[in-house]
Amino acid sequence: MALLPILRFPDPRLRKVAAPVTNVDDGIRRLAADMAETMYEAPGIGLAATQVDVHQQVIVIDVSESRDQLLVLINPELLSGEGMQVGEEGCLSVPGVYDKVERSEKVSVRYLDLQGEARTLDAEGLLAVCIQHEIDHLQGKVFVDHLSMLKQMRIKSKLAKQARITA
Ligand code: NI
Repeated sequence: MALLPILRFPDPRLRKVAAPVTNVDDGIRRLAADMAETMYEAPGIGLAATQVDVHQQVIVIDVSESRDQLLVLINPELLSGEGMQVGEEGCLSVPGVYDKVERSEKVSVRYLDLQGEARTLDAEGLLAVCIQHEIDHLQGKVFVDHLSMLKQMRIKSKLAKQARITA
């Protein structure tokens, strides 16, 4: 397994739309394992392939406290969403930035597992937020897109400053 470099907002590669996986093979399983390792190491609760500059529809999620409930969702597709919740979100591609985003309270998602089997998952609360956040990434969206233009400008200048300091 290997740690993968994570793209930082506003990197234009975060805007690419991921293609569906046509064949769940060893290459995809290796990608998912590397993404999981990268997510746990960061540490984060979710990571989309887009964030590691691979533009295929793969996401990894673990919202458990024990960090042993890995979910790998291939070609995830939201079937339904209901209710509304507002939670503070962050993103490994937007380090140090947290803000409130409105999401569906409950979602139903269809996806392929690591064996290529079709599955459906009903999620609520933090897991539902995480699924919506990661599916956004696959569509080239970042959580800050949900914020006001003024906040987005502030975030860009804050991250530009950080990049200069750490470069
Ligand atoms: Ni993110």
